[in-house]
Amino acid sequence: MKYRVNLQPSYHTLDVDENESILSAALREGIHLAYGCRSGTCGTCKSVLLEGKVAYPVEQALALTDEERQHGAALLCQAQPRSDLTIAAQVIPHDDVIVVKKLPCRVSQKQLVCHDVLRLLLKLPVMEKFSYRAGQYIDILLPDGRRRSFSLANAPFVNGSLELHVRHVEGGDFTGYVFKELEEKTILRVEGPHGQFFLREDSDRPIIFMAGGTGFAPIKSIIEFCIINDIQRPMYLYWGARAQQDLYMNDLAALWAKDFPHIHYIPVLSAPKPQDDKSIRTGLVHEAITKDFPDLSGYEVYASGPPMMVKAGKEAFARCHLPPEHYYSDAFEFQRPK
Ligand code: FES
Repeated sequence: MKYRVNLQPSYHTLDVDENESILSAALREGIHLAYGCRSGTCGTCKSVLLEGKVAYPVEQALALTDEERQHGAALLCQAQPRSDLTIAAQVIPHDDVIVVKKLPCRVSQKQLVCHDVLRLLLKLPVMEKFSYRAGQYIDILLPDGRRRSFSLANAPFVNGSLELHVRHVEGGDFTGYVFKELEEKTILRVEGPHGQFFLREDSDRPIIFMAGGTGFAPIKSIIEFCIINDIQRPMYLYWGARAQQDLYMNDLAALWAKDFPHIHYIPVLSAPKPQDDKSIRTGLVHEAITKDFPDLSGYEVYASGPPMMVKAGKEAFARCHLPPEHYYSDAFEFQRPK
């Protein structure tokens, strides 16, 4: 059964199947709404339900409190209609939209960069133009219809390839395949770019980047973009990992800090090993930030990594007076289903 959905204040209307998310239907119709993870965890697609009823196929770990629901908030990447709806949602103008494409890509390099992270380079078809903003992600389309999302780790057009950082997940069928079986020259089908985790270039606020694990990937892309485009806003990269061996591109981050006076790099270990460098800070990465920046009112924070880290950061930074509109996040679950 289909329901009619009205978007305000843009007056877009669309028909949405009862088994389809409102975001999927909007993207299908070329209506671009704000979104990030598409798995209900980041909260970027949160909008206000003015009229009607929605349901959520999966209730766990939604970035939606009971209080927000009572006030009409809805996560459009998950919500399915149960009646005709009117929703207050921000539609992104076409000028700001990059075209989402499905493309075949060839694996041109597979490189182990630490004990459990692979760096993959995917070569784009020669005649295909693929535009994205530094910080966005792509989906790898699996033959059985499932998808796996990975952030693009290089700045656009750096080397004609797409760079992905893939962490091995214990029991994960796709990452198990990538680590053990995937060979160079394999063709993968990808779809993208997706997401709205990218640098807001119309700001001159100093930036704090908070990365957790392979959440470093989109932040690497943004920092490379800033370096290439000579954007010299002060930048503080906090990279949280369990132990030193997990900082899989530590040398690169340290080199940025050495070469560019406006870039600062602070690794933070939550479970250091006895042999780890004692000069590296320890603890939780968001706590290191609030300790160094008790007043965040003049900053922007870009956070990328596990949902728990992103959520903890959001709450802690709000207590340090970070305006909520200056917190940008990319929360991902490994192997999230779509
Ligand atoms: Fe909907 Fe992240 S919660 S896009």
